[in-house]
Amino acid sequence: MKLWSGHLFFFIIAFSSVSSSRVLELSDKFIDLSGDGMWFVKFYAPWCAHCRRLEPIWAHVAQSLYNTAIKVAKVDCTRFPTVATHYKVRAYPTIMFIKGSLQHEYTGEREKDDMVKYATRMAQPAVQRVTHADSIGYLKESHNIFFGYVGKTEGLLWEMFALHAEKYQPHTWFYVMSKDVIKNEIDRPHNDTAVFVYKEDGVYFFDACEDLLRDQEALNTTLDKWINTERFGFFPKITRANINHFMDINKYIVIAIVSENKLGEITQTERDFKDMIESIIRKKKSELHENFQFGWMGTPDLANSIAMSDLTVPHLLVLNSTTSHHHIPDDDPVLMTPEAVVWFLEQIYTQQAPAYGGDYWLIRLYRAFFEARTTLGSMWRGNPVLTALVFGLPLGFLSLICYSVFCSDILDSDEDEEIESHEKKD
Ligand SMILES: *[C@@H]1O[C@H](CO)[C@@H](O)[C@H](O)[C@H]1NC(C)=O
Ligand SMILES: *[C@@H]1O[C@H](CO)[C@@H](O)[C@H](O)[C@H]1NC(C)=O
Ligand SMILES: *[C@@H]1O[C@H](CO)[C@@H](O)[C@H](O)[C@H]1NC(C)=O
Repeated sequence: MKLWSGHLFFFIIAFSSVSSSRVLELSDKFIDLSGDGMWFVKFYAPWCAHCRRLEPIWAHVAQSLYNTAIKVAKVDCTRFPTVATHYKVRAYPTIMFIKGSLQHEYTGEREKDDMVKYATRMAQPAVQRVTHADSIGYLKESHNIFFGYVGKTEGLLWEMFALHAEKYQPHTWFYVMSKDVIKNEIDRPHNDTAVFVYKEDGVYFFDACEDLLRDQEALNTTLDKWINTERFGFFPKITRANINHFMDINKYIVIAIVSENKLGEITQTERDFKDMIESIIRKKKSELHENFQFGWMGTPDLANSIAMSDLTVPHLLVLNSTTSHHHIPDDDPVLMTPEAVVWFLEQIYTQQAPAYGGDYWLIRLYRAFFEARTTLGSMWRGNPVLTALVFGLPLGFLSLICYSVFCSDILDSDEDEEIESHEKKD
């Protein structure tokens, strides 16, 4: 397998050598240069397989951004370790957007379109001004979710809004506008300044009471928490790449689990189930939104390793994002009515439903064992002879378990190669 992908890789390189010239190769001089302009940089090491996989995609990213102000570049961190240290690179590849003193690590999917969209967004100011009432309609169409500030650009609320816009720029959009611009679109209260989020079909205001507006620290934390919870849609897709963002929001995460095939299709039963779960949050937004974040997963793998069992699809999994405990309904999820699901959520909220898992070491051990078993199972199906050779030695199996216990966090996308472990090998 390895050999084959190696050959394939050389083919791709030869094929894309024209466009890869658009990627600038940086040296340690970059540390002094980086303040000038906008940079989208890949930190890599030649030995890392994930970096090689990214190489042709990165060339296409450079091609797409060629006529923009964004410079697409790469640094070989084995040749210029000072650059890696300077930017606190911990794994290869790391992708970073660097603008002046600001640096944001890209954590999304390593697909060309996602990365180009991200860089284009990051190249703009964190807060953009909307000057025409007509533009609001356009914003609603082009973004599912955006945050807005209404009123004069002075005072504590504005300062904090601008501060958080910079922090959350990688994830969402921020605009500033006067009262006049927004008056036809949003039926807002009579306050002089306001912060709101436009989400899918409605406007939700940040509750800026007077006490809060006088207390910088309290406003800082309250606004931060509010933006962090409101920046998700009502029913987003949850993946290994983004689940950690959801774990930060201190709500229960209600996940409909289905199993997409390679074309992203699901069966009718799964579709009905997913739609049923989505309809609950859409209909009962005001009651549930405060404490529950809904979403769906396109594969049971991640859910299985959280629940430590082979869940049938479709299924329902509820995660407590603070404690990492999870809940699964006793009944067959397919037979559940929306009322039954809401009842189940109420039980969870009042802590009457049984909670499983959590993050202590015994659970970790079992989880690691479960993951190892699953990995072994799929290896066996793929290539029984090789698997027998590799795992004929019980030691191999044992070390896989130990490796999983000590080196992996279940919610980490453990995609990247850690620098330290490689250096030890050297
Ligand atoms: C408007 O002002 C009042 C009184 O200061 C406050 O209670 C309320 O939360 C504010 N509304 C918004 C949306 O900020
Ligand atoms: C706001 O809070 C963050 C931590 O969440 C802190 O780093 C920052 O310095 C605070 N800013 C102000 C102006 O209080
Ligand atoms: C999670 O569990 C803890 C302890 O049982 C509880 O205090 C908390 O409210 C739960 N919910 C969320 C969303 O964290």
